[in-house]
Amino acid sequence: MLKLYDRKIPPKIILKTTGNACNINCKYCFELKKNVSNSIISPETLEKLIHKISIPFPIIFHGGETFLINKNKFRELLSIVKRNYPHKITSVKIQSNGTLLDSEWCEILFNEYKDLGIDIALSLDGTKEMNSLRVDQNNLNTFDKVLNAYKLLEKYGKKSGMLSVISKNSLDFHNEYVDFISSIPNLTFVKINALFNVDKNNLSEDSITPTEFANFIIKVAEHYINNKLYNRLPIEPILSILQKLKGKESRYCNYQKNKCYNYISVYPDGQIAPCDCFSADEFTIAYLDKLDDDLEIAIDQAIKKGNSLTLQNIVKNCEMCKIKNFCTGGCLSQRYYFSGNKELSDDFCASKHRLYNYFSNLVIK
Ligand SMILES: C[S@@+](CC[C@H](N)C(=O)[O-])C[C@H]1O[C@@H](n2cnc3c(N)ncnc32)[C@H](O)[C@@H]1O
Ligand code: SF4
Ligand code: SF4
Ligand code: SF4
Repeated sequence: MLKLYDRKIPPKIILKTTGNACNINCKYCFELKKNVSNSIISPETLEKLIHKISIPFPIIFHGGETFLINKNKFRELLSIVKRNYPHKITSVKIQSNGTLLDSEWCEILFNEYKDLGIDIALSLDGTKEMNSLRVDQNNLNTFDKVLNAYKLLEKYGKKSGMLSVISKNSLDFHNEYVDFISSIPNLTFVKINALFNVDKNNLSEDSITPTEFANFIIKVAEHYINNKLYNRLPIEPILSILQKLKGKESRYCNYQKNKCYNYISVYPDGQIAPCDCFSADEFTIAYLDKLDDDLEIAIDQAIKKGNSLTLQNIVKNCEMCKIKNFCTGGCLSQRYYFSGNKELSDDFCASKHRLYNYFSNLVIK
């Protein structure tokens, strides 16, 4: 059975280090549109949060742009993490656009706080042409800066992940995408996301349909397999799709049974919401200052009311589906924002069936 939240599994904490403040201006960014605090997470807020979660949990510094925070302020946060690592905070990751990463940051993360084993993932949408929506305040493509960040990490002996968003103008570049990621020596995983922005119940101009996304993933898989890149570099969602078809569990939320309230976003003013793909205001769980009990209790209560009831209905609709165990309902924020458009909702499920059929044949072969 699909669950919005499984209390036995620790919540992954997405710490909105700088709220939604960012130094660049990606044209599709959902974060910039949020009505949330854009100050920075204070040490007091982090301490309170740690105190309010009863079991050990992983943390990811996120944003906005994580590296916009002053370096000494970040040291204060890392020192708190260090005091709680690994008995209370089990792992530390950073998600960044990479444009502000410099040697000083690398010294802090990988020398001063080496004991924390910090992992970092950067966002880059593929080749320069594919990355054209990730622009700075002067509308210039940020590609070169991010590529330099990968090179800097390599100098420090650090491997790194990549998050890519596939938009309309990227769809023809599946082979170029695979060639490009295989050219970065210190890449350790890649996660490909779709641009499914919805405005007034319709896809916005750069967005793609679920079937277009499934076709892109299939084309990427063909080139990836032909080049035997799977020996070196896992790509989501291809990894999870193959794991599920072989009867294994996936660690990727899109293909997991426990869903979006096991991913908790915390904003600088103490606002707490599920995964950051959702509007924080539409899905607020609580404010840290007003939390009487542990966070887990507040989450248990939040999934029984408000907009999460719509999510409960969305997952309930999957119960009769033949590929439920494979698909596990997909990404619930995408389905929530598609729910006012039947064609898009139907296409979402059609795209999952397309992936199931294509990859099932591949596994048999
Ligand atoms: C919101 S950003 C925050 C962290 C950091 N600034 C970065 O870009 O990695 C986190 C991720 O969300 C992705 N993202 C932002 N808006 C999106 C959207 N509308 N659809 C899909 N992914 C989106 C970004 O591409 C990025 O990989
Ligand atoms: S760098 Fe991240 S937070 Fe900033 S605009 Fe781009 S996606 Fe949004
Ligand atoms: S294909 Fe559609 S109905 Fe079936 S499990 Fe996936 S999201 Fe649910
Ligand atoms: S909203 Fe989507 S990306 Fe976020 S936790 Fe839920 S399934 Fe995962």
